[in-house]
Amino acid sequence: MEWLVSLTGMPAGAFGVFTSGGTEANLSAMVTAREHWRDRDERNSKTRGIVIASNGAHSSIKAMAKVIDADVLLIETESRLESSHLAETLSRMSAKDRRRVFAVIATAGTTNAGIIDDLAGIANICRSEGIWFHVDAAYGGGALAARSVRHFFNGIEEADSVTIDPHKWLFSPYDCGAIIYRDPELAKKAHAQEGSYLDIFSDEGAQGFNPSDYQIQLTRRVRGLPLWFSLAMYGTDRYETAIERGIDLARIAGRLISATYYTELVREPSLSCVLFRRLGWTPEDYRNWTYRNHKSGFALVAPTKVRRRFLK
Ligand SMILES: Cc1ncc(COP(=O)(O)O)c(C=O)c1O
Repeated sequence: MEWLVSLTGMPAGAFGVFTSGGTEANLSAMVTAREHWRDRDERNSKTRGIVIASNGAHSSIKAMAKVIDADVLLIETESRLESSHLAETLSRMSAKDRRRVFAVIATAGTTNAGIIDDLAGIANICRSEGIWFHVDAAYGGGALAARSVRHFFNGIEEADSVTIDPHKWLFSPYDCGAIIYRDPELAKKAHAQEGSYLDIFSDEGAQGFNPSDYQIQLTRRVRGLPLWFSLAMYGTDRYETAIERGIDLARIAGRLISATYYTELVREPSLSCVLFRRLGWTPEDYRNWTYRNHKSGFALVAPTKVRRRFLK
């Protein structure tokens, strides 16, 4: 976890815990943000909150907003979410709705296209507006270890919370996500469960740190262990090499696609995502091709939609 936190560049005191995945990490962050917003102002105690994100945000944001009964305001963008989009959205809101905004969620590596939002600009607005800034780097977070693209993440160090899934681009087996907080005490306030039989787990005898206090789950397995073993075995440099190789492969694939007359690059590869179409194909053609590749053990290339259109 110290290594993950160091990749973000968040200040001393920031720390995190492992979760079942990005969905649970995002949920834990949203609960922390919402509780903090309510703690700061009594008037929010019965108000339904609003989370702002972009249309590129992962489906778990909408799903988890349902769990906490919050509204999600999605800003439509063709590419990355810019700070100007956020500023404009906030300025157009009524004073009443503006007070309901308790978090902005930027994505650092959208699942569909590998897009990284303008983290530094969004962080500035959140700071001056007093809004919790969460970065969902569930997929893209692995690339924090890759020097060639690290600058695209500038501003992540300003986040109040960051989701990174080691079970995505950090090669861990499934069931290993992580949520990192700038101020873990706020997470503890939101999540720590009370029960006289639980007190023993948080006293000094239990080293005073109980991961259950910082996310939604109480009884949990040692989720960070597979990542730790892998790091102990290979070392962090091997991670950087492997991630850089993934980024290179995406660029090589992009060049080959551009050079082939029957395929078209939809946008320049970003991180490890390569969006392309095969001219003239129908959704069925993509589906059949995906299954054929998968069943033969050759590759898993998932069909997707961009701007709600199938790539054809
Ligand atoms: C950006 C992003 N956030 C959250 C998630 C959800 O993660 P999980 O499937 O580990 O719950 C994903 C999964 O693809 C993702 O790409």
